[in-house]
Amino acid sequence: MSIVEKFVTMDYGPAPEDPREAVAWLDKHKRRFGHFINGTWHPPIDKKYFDTTDPSTTEKLAEVAQGSAADIDDAVKSARNALPQWQSLTPHARARYLYALARQIQKHSRRLAVLETLDNGKPIRESRDIDIPLVARHFYHHAGWAQLLAQEFPGYEACGVVGQIIPWNFPLLMLAWKIAPALATGNTVVLKPAEFTPLTALAFAEICQEIDLPAGVVNIVTGDGHTGEALVAHPDIDKIAFTGSTEVGRAIRKATASSHKKLSLELGGKSPFIIFEDADLDSAVEGLVDGIWFNQGQVCCAGSRLLMQESIAEPLIAKICDRMNTLRVGPPLDKSIDIGAIIARVQLDRIQRLVDQGVAEGATCWQPSIPMPSRGLYFPPTLLSNVHPTSVVAQQEIFGPVLAAMTFRTPSEAVELANNTAYGLAACVWSESINVSLHIASQLKAGVVWVNCTNLFDASCGFGGYRESGYGREGGREGLLEYLEPTWFKHAPQLHQRPLAIDQPPAQLTEATADSSTPPIDRTVKLFIAGKQARPDSGYSIPVHAPDGRLLGEAPLGNRKDIRNAVEAARKATAWPKSTAHTRAQVLYYLAENLSQRREEIASRLSDVVGKQQADAELTSSIERIFTYAAWADKYEGAIHNPPFRNVTLAMQEPIGTIGILCPAEAPLLGFVSAVMPAIAVGNTVVAIPSEFYPLITADLYQLFETSDLPPGAVNIVTGRPHELLKTLAEHDDLDALWCFADAPICATAKSLSIGNLKQVFTNEGRAIDWFNPAQSTARFFLQHATQIKNIWVPYGE
Ligand code: NAI
Repeated sequence: MSIVEKFVTMDYGPAPEDPREAVAWLDKHKRRFGHFINGTWHPPIDKKYFDTTDPSTTEKLAEVAQGSAADIDDAVKSARNALPQWQSLTPHARARYLYALARQIQKHSRRLAVLETLDNGKPIRESRDIDIPLVARHFYHHAGWAQLLAQEFPGYEACGVVGQIIPWNFPLLMLAWKIAPALATGNTVVLKPAEFTPLTALAFAEICQEIDLPAGVVNIVTGDGHTGEALVAHPDIDKIAFTGSTEVGRAIRKATASSHKKLSLELGGKSPFIIFEDADLDSAVEGLVDGIWFNQGQVCCAGSRLLMQESIAEPLIAKICDRMNTLRVGPPLDKSIDIGAIIARVQLDRIQRLVDQGVAEGATCWQPSIPMPSRGLYFPPTLLSNVHPTSVVAQQEIFGPVLAAMTFRTPSEAVELANNTAYGLAACVWSESINVSLHIASQLKAGVVWVNCTNLFDASCGFGGYRESGYGREGGREGLLEYLEPTWFKHAPQLHQRPLAIDQPPAQLTEATADSSTPPIDRTVKLFIAGKQARPDSGYSIPVHAPDGRLLGEAPLGNRKDIRNAVEAARKATAWPKSTAHTRAQVLYYLAENLSQRREEIASRLSDVVGKQQADAELTSSIERIFTYAAWADKYEGAIHNPPFRNVTLAMQEPIGTIGILCPAEAPLLGFVSAVMPAIAVGNTVVAIPSEFYPLITADLYQLFETSDLPPGAVNIVTGRPHELLKTLAEHDDLDALWCFADAPICATAKSLSIGNLKQVFTNEGRAIDWFNPAQSTARFFLQHATQIKNIWVPYGE
C-alpha cells in the first residue's frame, strides 16, 4: 500500500506489543503461584489451584492458589503480627515505603501493563497509558499522605487489619486504590484479587519483596468468592473494603452487620451521559467513546445511558454510528486496538442475554460492520436506541460495550431521567454553557460528575457512589478517613444495657405536682409529622415512668404507618435542603435561643427521669451544641482539587438526603440534639425516634421546632417501641441513611436490615458515647456521616 493510499484509508497495520518480559516473569514462577503471606510465597494449605487465562485467546496463562479459610487465617495472623511494628514506624518511614512502591511500579511499568493486558484482555494502550500510570500516581500521592498523617489527622488512628476484595476490571489500579491509603494510614492488609485477574497483584507482591516492605504488612490471598467470604467472615479483621457487584456488596453488608468491622463499598453503576443541544457534538462523541467503550464497557462508572436532547438526537446518532464504524476490535496487545476482549465467557453470555432482553423490550440494536476476531471472547460495540427508561438495559448494569440511548426535551427532564435508577456512581454532562452544566451537575445523584469530559480519575479526588452504588470514597482526604477512626471512638467502652442515669438514685420529688392537692393538667404528647402534631395511627399510647416508678405521662405508640408518613413528609420537605447554609444557621441559632428561654421548665420535667444534675447539664450542653452546629452550618465546605490535568475538580459537600435516627436512650434531650442537629445543619431531613426512656421529650422538642422557623417536615418525630420502629426505618427504601445509637445487638439489627436499598448506616457500634464531652460528640465526626462528597470535574482551556 502506498503512503497516499494509507493516508486516504487511514488503515492501521498490526502493531503488537512484545510480551516476552511478562511471559518470562510467568516462566520464572513456573506459571504456578501460591499466596503471598508474611513476605513469602506459601502453597495453599489444601493444595488447590485454578487456572487464569488470557481472554483474547482463552489460553491458560498460569495456575494460582485457591485460598481456603485456613489460608485466610494465616494471612490475617500475619497482618495482625505485623501491625505493631508497622504502626511504630514514623510517618516519614512509612512514606518512604510508599514512595519506593511508586518508584518500583514505574520501573516495571511496561511489564505490569503487558501482564495486565494478558490477564484481563484490555487494550495495551489503556493498561500502558492509563492503568499503570494511575497506579504509580496513587502510591506517590499516598506517600505524601503518609508523611502528613499526624499533622492532618490528629486524634485519628488506623482501623488495624484491613480485608480488601477487588474486581477484575482494573486489577492493579483497584489494588492501588485499596492498598495505598490503607498503608499510608498505618493499617496492614490482606487483599484478595478477583479470580479472573490475579497476576498483577502477585507481581505487586514481588515488588513488596523487592523494596523490603516489612513482612506481613501486605498479604495477598488468591481465590474466588468463597475466599472473599472467608476474609469477610474472619473475626480478626477491623475493616472490609470492597469493590464489585451490588449483589455481593449487599451480602457483605449483611455478613459484617454483627461485627465492629468498618465497611466501604464501591459497587455498580448505570451512569448517564447527558448531551445538550449546545454541546460540541464532536467532542461529546469522542467522550462517549471513552465513556462506554473504554475497557470494553467493563467499567463501574461507564456512561452506559446516553441521554440526548431531542433536537440533536438524529445528527448525534449519525455521528456516533460513523465513529463506531472506525472502532477497532481485536487482540489487545496490538497498540492500535480500541476494544479488546471480554473478561470471561460468563460475562460475554450475560452481555448477549441483556442485549437480547433489551431488544425484546423494544430497543433497536445497531452494531457496526467492522472485522471481529475469529477466536477469543469479543463483543462488538453496540448501540441500543429507542430504549424505554424502564427497560432492563436502561436499569441494569450490563458491564459490556453496550450503549442504551434515550432522548429528553428539557433540562429538568434530563435530570429526572438521569436520576431514574437505583445507582448513583457517576455522570457526564456535555454543554458549552457552564451555567447549565453546573446547574445540572448539582442536581444529579452521583458521586462523580464529569463536565465536558469522561472517565478522569486522580488520587487527589475522591471516587465513590450515592445510593446503591455504595458508600465511602476512594482517593483524596475523604478516602483516607475510610481507613481511620477517631481514637476515642475506637477505644470507647461498650454501652451499658441500661442507661447510666437510670441507675442513679431517683430524682427528688421537688416539683409542685409532688405535694400539690390539685391534680396536674393532663399534658398530651403527640407525634410530630410534616410540621404538625399528629395522633398515632394505632390509637394507642404507652405509659412512661420515672425511675422511681411514678407515671410521668403517656407517649403515642407509633407504628409502620406513622413511620411511612414521617418518611414521606421528610422527603417532601425540599425547602430545607434547598435553603442556603446561612438560612440553616439562622434557624439553628433561633432554636438555641428558644431552648434557652424555656430551659427551666424543660429541665424540671427532664429531671424526673435523669435527675436534676443531669437535666441541667443536658440543657446547658444542648444549647451550646445547637450553637456549634449553627456555626458549622455555613462552614462545613468542600474543596477544590488540582489533579494533573487541565481541569479543576470541585469537591462539594452534599447532604445525604433523608436520615432515620434512633436517638440515644441515655440522654433524652442532649442525645436527640447531638444526633439530629448535625444531620439538619447540612441540609438533610430527619425522621427521629427519641429516647426510649423519655419519649415525652417529643412535646418539648416540637414546641421548639414550631416556634423556630424550621420548615415543616425537616424534622419528624415518631415515638413508640424503638425496636419495631427501627425495623421499619431500616427496611424503608426511601430513606438514604440510618443512624442508630444503641447497644451492640440493636446496631447489628440496623445494619443487617438496611441492605435493601443499601442505605448508609452510621452507628455507635454499641459503644458508649459521652454526649457531654464535646470532644466526642460534636462536629466533624458527625458531619462527615451527614454528608457525601460529589466531585465535579470541570476542564479549562481552549
Ligand atoms: P463480583 O462482585 O462477584 O466479584 C468481585 C469480587 O468479589 C471478586 O474478587 C470476587 O471473588 C469477590 N466475591 C464474590 N462473591 C463474594 C462474597 N460472597 N464475599 C466476598 N467476596 C466475594 O463480580 P463478578 O461476578 O465478577 O461480576 C458480576 C457483575 O458485577 C458484573 O457483570 C458487573 O455488573 C458487576 N461488577 C461491578 C464492578 C464494579 O466495579 N462496580 C466490578 C466487577 C463486577
